[in-house]
Amino acid sequence: MVNQFKAFVIRENENGNFSRSIEDKRIEELPEGEVLIQVKYAALNYKDALSSSGHKGITRNFPHTPGVDACGIVMSSESDDFKEGDAVIVTSYDFGMNTSGGFQEYIRVPAKWPVKLPEGMTLEESMVLGTGGFTAALSLFKMEQNGQEPSMGPILVTGSTGGVGSMAVSILALNGYEVIAASGKKEAHDYLRELGATEIISREETNDQSGRPLLRTKWAGAIDTVGDNTLATCIKACGRNGSVAVCGLVESEKLETTVYPFILNGVNVLGIETAETPRKIRLKIWELLSKKWKPKHLEDIKKIISLDELEEHIQLMLAGKSKGRVLVKF
Ligand SMILES: NC(=O)c1ccc[n+]([C@@H]2O[C@H](COP(=O)([O-])OP(=O)(O)OC[C@H]3O[C@@H](n4cnc5c(N)ncnc54)[C@H](OP(=O)(O)O)[C@@H]3O)[C@@H](O)[C@H]2O)c1
Repeated sequence: MVNQFKAFVIRENENGNFSRSIEDKRIEELPEGEVLIQVKYAALNYKDALSSSGHKGITRNFPHTPGVDACGIVMSSESDDFKEGDAVIVTSYDFGMNTSGGFQEYIRVPAKWPVKLPEGMTLEESMVLGTGGFTAALSLFKMEQNGQEPSMGPILVTGSTGGVGSMAVSILALNGYEVIAASGKKEAHDYLRELGATEIISREETNDQSGRPLLRTKWAGAIDTVGDNTLATCIKACGRNGSVAVCGLVESEKLETTVYPFILNGVNVLGIETAETPRKIRLKIWELLSKKWKPKHLEDIKKIISLDELEEHIQLMLAGKSKGRVLVKF
């Protein structure tokens, strides 16, 4: 095994500025852990772009190698759960945040972090899905655990062209749900219909300004990535006994509501937290994503780049110009 390898490294300079470059690292420099993995693909997420620009809410200490989604082949393992040659996916926990992440040729992680690549999924597909696909699938999984079913009516997805949103549209459609996709992008209607949306509405229609505590029922459930008044609107217009999965905060972390949707309509608000999802559920979700819940459009939304091209794509993401899933291939 080679001892020296390439890694994307963020450094904090004396004046508080951050620099990004590709450096040589040695295996001994990797964090402690039972499983050493040769990375085959890593995917770029918004969290990585923030970490790369020195966002202390994501990464406290530098130098740091970001990358919250990676997959590859086990090179050595001190755990009975993995053996040399196993293909594995690593996402969630502290990976890529304050623990050295996927934008490097080798990673070393605790044995509870990797998941074996399920049959029916390629390493490349696992990274097109990544944390976004996992979040969308976990949302539907929890909604169905709470009684959601297609016969109850359509499901609203907010931020529907985003990483989580587009996967949610696709997975819901695969499972026989009618999908109302809310989007701020007029030019994306064809894309959303291809993913399986049956109706497309504007962001404004999910941002009710009437001040009323309850609205006429417009959907039977929702997967919300936006937060704030959009989330409040998802809840107020949700049908009886429907579930609203709370995934994100692209508008803001705030939520103002009354108790009426809960005590009069029995609406469930479900928290979606992927980082510490219990292992049993984590395995179940990846299994679903490899078969029955595997989105059809994975091939069309990926862009494969080299480690040398990562800087350019981080800048595009920070400028809001990123589209689809960017995968670094090693
Ligand atoms: N809970 C978890 O474990 C977990 C896991 C992954 C991600 N997340 C969170 O989920 C959220 C979405 O992540 P993502 O990766 O899908 O992000 P993303 O790819 O950047 O997508 C977000 C989408 O939200 C919409 N949007 C952007 N600004 C908006 C605004 N001001 N108001 C309303 N809509 C807006 C846009 O879609 P349209 O143009 O189509 O409206 C955008 O594509 C983030 O807050 C992220 O932190 C949480």
